[in-house]
Amino acid sequence: MSEQNQSIHGQWSSRLAFILAVSGSAVGLGNIWKFPYITGVNGGGAFVLVYLVCILAIGLPILMSEIMLGRLGHKNPIATMKILGKRESGTTKWSVIGILGVFTGSLILSYYSVVAGWAMNYVLLSVQGSLASVDSDSAGQLFGGMVSNPINVFFWHSLFMLLTVFIVAKGLISGIEKSIRILMPLLIFLLLVLLVFSVINGEALAALRFLFSFNLDALTGDGFLVALGHAFFTLSLGMGAVMAYGAYLPKNFSLSKTAGAIVFFDTAIALVAGIVIFSVVFANDLDPTQGPGLIFQTLPIAFSSLPLTSVVAFLFFILLVAAAWTSSISLIEPGVAWLIEDFGFSRKTSTYALGGLIWLLGLLSVFSFNHLADFTFWQGTWFDNFDFLTANLLLPFGGLLITVFAGYILSPSISEEEIDLGGKLGYRIWLFLSRYIAPAGIIIIFLDGLGVL
Ligand code: PFF
Repeated sequence: MSEQNQSIHGQWSSRLAFILAVSGSAVGLGNIWKFPYITGVNGGGAFVLVYLVCILAIGLPILMSEIMLGRLGHKNPIATMKILGKRESGTTKWSVIGILGVFTGSLILSYYSVVAGWAMNYVLLSVQGSLASVDSDSAGQLFGGMVSNPINVFFWHSLFMLLTVFIVAKGLISGIEKSIRILMPLLIFLLLVLLVFSVINGEALAALRFLFSFNLDALTGDGFLVALGHAFFTLSLGMGAVMAYGAYLPKNFSLSKTAGAIVFFDTAIALVAGIVIFSVVFANDLDPTQGPGLIFQTLPIAFSSLPLTSVVAFLFFILLVAAAWTSSISLIEPGVAWLIEDFGFSRKTSTYALGGLIWLLGLLSVFSFNHLADFTFWQGTWFDNFDFLTANLLLPFGGLLITVFAGYILSPSISEEEIDLGGKLGYRIWLFLSRYIAPAGIIIIFLDGLGVL
């Protein structure tokens, strides 16, 4: 093992391990739970188009920048940005990117864990046989009954947080790669099985029409903002998660190929999940705009018409929990690494302290579906507000700072050496996207979404 592979997060046993870890972070509830439901709420095709453009023109160059900065700094995101900022511009203020990231990741995990808890609850329901034969009415009741029971949601949220801090406290992050190696192909396989099912049994054509008919008039400024925010959320960008993982990527490893593979996987999984879910939605006259409960109310119906219903349901929700788990680890790890490296706390203390805080904050999201369901402000419940604030504002804002740093502050001689997009032209394209398209895109969508334009 070369020394470069040593890290506070564990060790990458190989280059593939890095891809797996970042894919494990990227592929999660964002792809399977969130993408279909926000696509439904925002009217389909036009939203998907804006999301795809944001992924390619803004997400991809920033993903490359985050990996690059992590690899140049070799430390947790706060220390990395402090070191690089000092070296490149004489100020340590750029560490704000890392600090903001720790804050954003913690806020995201607080509600992410609640949704992962729902998925865990569905694992149990499948074992109990409750998902064996559901129709659209009973699927709705099942979901409604689950989230309206505060003790229930509290229990699963707590269990998921425990699972997350357990792994992080032990410092087994790199060990996760072994399970990702098996779980990720399995998840893809199962999604493909469901895709075949939806083509045979569902309304796949209607789903495709819904997802890919690009009528931009249907999209509001808010929709643009959600699409931009989701590009960041789904690729785990803008908060230092990828930077932390990139810190120990060997120098000779192609940055563009890695970033390209991650973007491809992540997007493909989201689109397949979308086709599956909307096929079921249209075949059963369900409401595509029903919100966060969408997959929990549609997938059990799809499973019901498959052989071995409970087994398929069990496998699917276990894999969803696993995907959420590898993402949640990357949400808390930058904060934990910071507490260890900059404050000298032990890994255990850092993880349990930060995890405890996040768990507590998560209670606001736990109760957003029951006790506090009527307590709404700004975007809706606490849950809605945490989601909107982090995904749509904080992540793109973090991404804006990252792309400005990579495009303007970092000396081009360094970035040119790092960005290996096939010669000068490739580098120029990256630089153009990083300097102009990504910052302008983020600022325009911000202003539009906030009603300023
Ligand atoms: N990318 C994850 C998902 O799509 O579920 C969520 C996420 C993980 C967002 C890590 C941000 C992050 F830093």
